Amino acid sequence: MKTELLVENTADIDKAAELIKSGELVGIPTETVYGLAADACNPKAVAKIFAAKGRPADNPLIVHIADTSMLSELAENIPDIAYRLADKFWPGPLTMIFKKKFCIPEITSGGLDTVGIRKPAHSAALALIRSAGIPLAAPSGNISGYPSPTKAEHMMRDMNGKIPAVIDGGECSIGVESTVISFENENTVRILRPGGVTREDLLEITDNVIIDPAILHELEEGQIVRSPGMKYKHYSPNAHIIMLEGKYDNFCDYVNAHSGAGVYSLIFDDDDKMKINVPAFSYGCDSSEQAHSIFSCMREMDSLGADIVYVRAPKAEGVGLAVYNRLIRAAGFEVIQV
Ligand code: TXA
Ligand code: MG
Repeated sequence: MKTELLVENTADIDKAAELIKSGELVGIPTETVYGLAADACNPKAVAKIFAAKGRPADNPLIVHIADTSMLSELAENIPDIAYRLADKFWPGPLTMIFKKKFCIPEITSGGLDTVGIRKPAHSAALALIRSAGIPLAAPSGNISGYPSPTKAEHMMRDMNGKIPAVIDGGECSIGVESTVISFENENTVRILRPGGVTREDLLEITDNVIIDPAILHELEEGQIVRSPGMKYKHYSPNAHIIMLEGKYDNFCDYVNAHSGAGVYSLIFDDDDKMKINVPAFSYGCDSSEQAHSIFSCMREMDSLGADIVYVRAPKAEGVGLAVYNRLIRAAGFEVIQV
């Protein structure tokens, strides 16, 4: 199959909408990462997503809508707080989990009786949903386990020849996937995956925000898995990622003592590259920049042929919690204090 690169104009969006309506997959830009989209209510189309990504069947997909009014068609028992959150954070990087209605097929929800829903903020994604007139199931567009795509060229690397089209909507502005939350009760939300809507943002709507322990810690045998995605090794490039936590001078001492062919480092913009004797790349200065670049940098390390990448641990605050969460998983929880 030839994968066509489309742009964001009416003709191309309508072409993509026709593909979606005929049960095909389209790579779509969102403000978080690129997604691999299909008609959320068409089980055959959704099956193609799992096949193209090599995704485990028990890992549910997020359903994307263009208007909050579509919510009650897909979900039930929607608490009031969800509407307050939608008012404040939609369109945007917040996915909320609800009890699903019958129209969401089992394959889309990974066999669960719940469904995660979000309204994305990218104009091309919204235009596509409106043109097709159907909600889109879309996981991140990477091969399962690989870092998420944040540019159309990343989508092409992972999906070229497997899907009919990718819409090029430029670089994703946020760069890490949406925040996923569930509702414990009318007033309490639990963050299952940190993202662009931070704990601090959620605290503006409710005082009761729980951070699920699986965000920062490896699941132990027998522990409750609230989000199937947390079970899997994730976001990791072919290179072996090792996170080092501590002062920059100590980071340099450690890396210099472990230097060799194929060893690279990923540091902050304001760190002095001259202090390190392996190739050093920066993934930004503040947490937003780091979120924006982290997946792209990981992919770049692979294209350079890196075997081992020592990454300077980011601050785990604000959107930095999302960056830390992705890195700790990419590293298979290998964090060394220096
Ligand atoms: O920003 C995003 O959320 C992107 C863009 C394309 O919208 N999508 C995305 O999808 O990251 P995906 O499939 O790569 O990650 C979805 C995560 C997985 O960890 C999955 O287990 C969890 O959300 N999830 C989805 N539905 C769920 C549900 N009903 N219950 C618990 N966890 C759920
Ligand atoms: Mg993903």
